Amino acid sequence: MRVLSGIQPSGELHLGNYFGAIRQYVRMQEEHDCFFFVANYHALTSLRDAPRLRTLSLSCAADYLALGLDPHRATIFLQSDLPEVTELTWLLDTVTPMGLLQRCHAYKEKIEQGLPSDHGLFAYPVLMAADILIHQSQLVPVGQDQKQHVEVCRDIAERFNGIYGEVFRLPEPYVLSEVAIVPGTDGRKMSKSYGNTLGLFEPEKALKAKIMSIQTDSTPVEAPKDPDKCKLFALFSLLASAEEKAEIERRYRAGGIGYGEVKKRLLALMLEYFREARERRKELEGDEATVRKALALGAEKARASARPTLQAARASVGL
Ligand code: ADP
Ligand code: TRP
Repeated sequence: MRVLSGIQPSGELHLGNYFGAIRQYVRMQEEHDCFFFVANYHALTSLRDAPRLRTLSLSCAADYLALGLDPHRATIFLQSDLPEVTELTWLLDTVTPMGLLQRCHAYKEKIEQGLPSDHGLFAYPVLMAADILIHQSQLVPVGQDQKQHVEVCRDIAERFNGIYGEVFRLPEPYVLSEVAIVPGTDGRKMSKSYGNTLGLFEPEKALKAKIMSIQTDSTPVEAPKDPDKCKLFALFSLLASAEEKAEIERRYRAGGIGYGEVKKRLLALMLEYFREARERRKELEGDEATVRKALALGAEKARASARPTLQAARASVGL
């Protein structure tokens, strides 16, 4: 099965990105023909700082490798190494009804948050459709928030095929719902745009300060606590073994455990859980050549996969 997904390099990858997306990517590369990319064209809708975009794009690719994506199993590439997607975007633009894009929740939410409403932000789902369709992708693993964009992609592909003939395969969204939304340090959804993240590769000191600042209620140490209502416990559960989780759950209900202790254990767990990945990430820090080599290999594979589709699309419209 052809699988494709991407993440925008608009900030450092965090625990939500890992449990919500990358952990599944690592599993899927064992069974499927996977394409995973760094969506740097998309990041331009929120980031206008060239050195920062360059750094974050490479850093996101290094994170992928450190977390176990294998450039020999999966095709790992930078979106901008495949300028063919921008040409396909234009062909798709010409058959995309305005109403389809006006209904997109992500666009509406971003406008509400105060992002300027420029054309790039509005047309972003068409670029995403081109990413997907150019590789004849069948399965698109995304978080719940991106499902609508995959549906928009299907609508655009159906319209194009209806007018010009069967050029594109229709993809299915594969919603990564195994893990519910990972909470951030302030209790809201962990997100780069809320500044409430626990970064996967942050220095220990910074991570400690953030974990210690996780908001909890003022229940005293001796009092029983409800683990199901505690975001700190939710984070702990993601990383703990079944036994450890059961132990802490029992102590929450019985009373006698303080949040400070849980926070300390959360930090230790997180460092241990990502120990190997953090070591690999450190090695890659000083070895940009390996990251660039993986991306070059990916770019070559991605272009070979994209060219026939773009050629077919061009021919079908009369170019
Ligand atoms: P962010 O909100 O930090 O900008 P992205 O929108 O770039 O994250 O998301 C990249 C991937 O990570 C998506 O598939 C998304 O569903 C997943 N993801 C992001 N935040 C979380 C979270 N808090 N819990 C679960 N999955 C998440
Ligand atoms: N829009 C996605 C996000 O913000 C990233 C993305 C771009 C993507 N193109 C894609 C995801 C194609 C899946 C398929 O998370």
